[in-house]
Amino acid sequence: MKCSSRLIAFALTLVLSLPYVVSAQEAAADAGGADIAHGETVFKNNCAQCHAITDERVVGPGLKGATDRNNMDWLIKWVKNSQAMIAAGDPYAVKIYNEYSKAQMTSFPGLSPEDIKAIFAYVDNAATAAPAEAAAGAAPAAGGAAASSGPSDMFMVVLVALVIVMLLVLGVLLVIVTILSKAVNGGDSSASEGDFMGRLTKSLKGVVSDPAIRSAVIWVFALLALKATVDGAFGVGVQQGYAPKQPIAFSHKLHAGEYKIDCNYCHTGANRGQSAHIPSANICMNCHGVIKKESPEIQKIYTSIENDQPIEWVRVHNLPDFAYFNHSQHVNVAGVECQTCHGEIEKMEVVQQRSSLTMGWCIDCHRKTDVNTKGNEYYDNLVQLHASESQEALKVEDIGGLECSKCHY
Ligand code: HEC
Ligand code: HEC
Ligand code: HEC
Ligand code: HEC
Ligand code: HEC
Ligand code: HEC
Repeated sequence: MKCSSRLIAFALTLVLSLPYVVSAQEAAADAGGADIAHGETVFKNNCAQCHAITDERVVGPGLKGATDRNNMDWLIKWVKNSQAMIAAGDPYAVKIYNEYSKAQMTSFPGLSPEDIKAIFAYVDNAATAAPAEAAAGAAPAAGGAAASSGPSDMFMVVLVALVIVMLLVLGVLLVIVTILSKAVNGGDSSASEGDFMGRLTKSLKGVVSDPAIRSAVIWVFALLALKATVDGAFGVGVQQGYAPKQPIAFSHKLHAGEYKIDCNYCHTGANRGQSAHIPSANICMNCHGVIKKESPEIQKIYTSIENDQPIEWVRVHNLPDFAYFNHSQHVNVAGVECQTCHGEIEKMEVVQQRSSLTMGWCIDCHRKTDVNTKGNEYYDNLVQLHASESQEALKVEDIGGLECSKCHY
């Protein structure tokens, strides 16, 4: 009895750990050694605000096919320091730099060759394995992080069903074995008197109270709980790709792109304060008092003003309350372009969240970005002090940009 239940417990653990073994192998196999999931994280934290994984142009070119255009050594050198390659006159580097009107790609000296290989493993995998899903990364996709990795829901359901069936079969087998062995041995007194049901319950009680089985069950639950937590932690709150439908079909592509209306004309707070502000209907009326009055979409602006009801724009970018972000500090003081964080809004028909807005994303930029100290007397002393200690330029990190209290109340 003891021995057989140990065996069963062992078999159970084996069966239940199967999906983990399988998914680990799958990941290893189609990544060709590199870790796609890791690549996805690195990509989203560092590259997604400027690159799509399709061939769509964002700030930089779509990365689909990048590994065909250049070999891995080139790509690693480029990502670590593209400016150095351009300065050295690498023909492809110079060509693409000019093609993108000399927009500077951020350098990533901190990424390891493994990180960079993983990025391109992820890009290639997304481009070949699931073109539709890859497109969803760049095109409006409600839910954003929906395309998470790991075994699919269907797979898990089938697996759980399978395990339950196996458990039942094992239980029945165990009972039969017990009964048979007792019958063969002549049995003890209780066995000889017993009806079938009595023995069944007794054996089942034995199974339930057996420590080996119990520990196996506990392990299994612990594993499942752990997996759920890990899956959850990577997806929670990350809204990258979020592009909700708005109450009025307002197009940035038309207003900021074709008509080149300055971002600050509508988002009056970006240069001055914490919030960039969404323009009120009155600002729209500066033009739509005369332009396209008859359009049903424009009529919605009129209705809003007549009823004194603000237009209910759906918020796209939203940090949790415990994090503090200030636009003017970045736009005005640091001189960061809107597009660095928001992507090419002026090409979007519908606004989409392009950056992850995670803590890692903020920190990453603070580690890499030089403080814009030119013409800012406030920094003169700091710059001198820093120069006496270090060869490197003053980074946001060095002025306290990694201190918890700067971003958390
Ligand atoms: C701030 C925007 C920005 C970020 C962030 C960025 N890039 Fe770029 N990238 C560009 C631009 C712009 C170009 C076009 C060349 C130029 O102007 O320097 C480019 C070009 C490239 C190219 C060459 C394109 C090709 O296939 O021909 C590769 C590869 C590349 N980037 C990879 C990356 C990776 C990987 C990351 C993340 C680790 C990254 N980039 C992050 C803006 C960016
Ligand atoms: C004519 C006015 C106007 C101009 C010009 C304009 N915007 Fe907007 N912007 C809006 C309105 C209205 C919304 C809210 C509706 C929406 O999300 O499309 C908005 C929304 C946004 C959002 C998303 C806000 C959120 O909810 O998270 C961002 C980011 C943004 N704009 C950036 C820009 C940038 C960058 C530019 C310049 C390239 C720009 N806008 C130019 C009117 C404007
Ligand atoms: C600086 C001028 C200006 C401002 C401010 C402005 N628009 Fe426009 N808008 C235009 C122009 C120009 C067009 C293109 C008209 C055309 O196609 O003939 C347009 C077109 C539109 C259209 C498409 C109408 C259609 O049926 O084709 C919508 C919707 C719209 N605007 C909404 C808004 C909203 C909402 C705001 C305020 C947040 C706003 N606009 C602010 C200039 C402006
Ligand atoms: C350093 C990154 C960064 C830059 C640069 C930046 N934004 Fe933002 N933007 C954010 C973040 C983060 C949020 C979300 C803020 C929140 O939820 O508190 C946001 C939110 C917004 C919103 C939603 C309303 C609000 O203010 O919370 C608008 C509109 C917007 N940005 C427009 C702009 C415009 C226009 C520019 C350029 C003039 C710009 N942003 C530059 C990171 C940036
Ligand atoms: C594109 C790069 C970039 C991103 C992304 C970014 N920042 Fe910054 N941040 C800067 C720069 C550059 C400065 C330095 C501004 C200055 O000179 O004072 C800065 C400064 C700050 C400061 C002031 C630090 C100090 O010590 O004075 C805070 C707070 C801050 N950022 C919060 C955030 C938060 C929160 C996020 C993410 C939601 C974020 N930043 C994302 C570039 C960035
Ligand atoms: C540059 C800005 C910045 C700094 C510095 C920073 N945080 Fe954050 N932190 C954020 C933002 C933004 C979020 C919200 C991220 C999200 O919603 O995914 C966040 C989220 C968190 C969370 C919630 C868990 C999570 O990941 O969503 C915790 C806990 C946290 N931060 C702790 C800290 C501690 C401790 C420090 C100091 C060592 C720190 N933070 C420094 C910007 C910052």
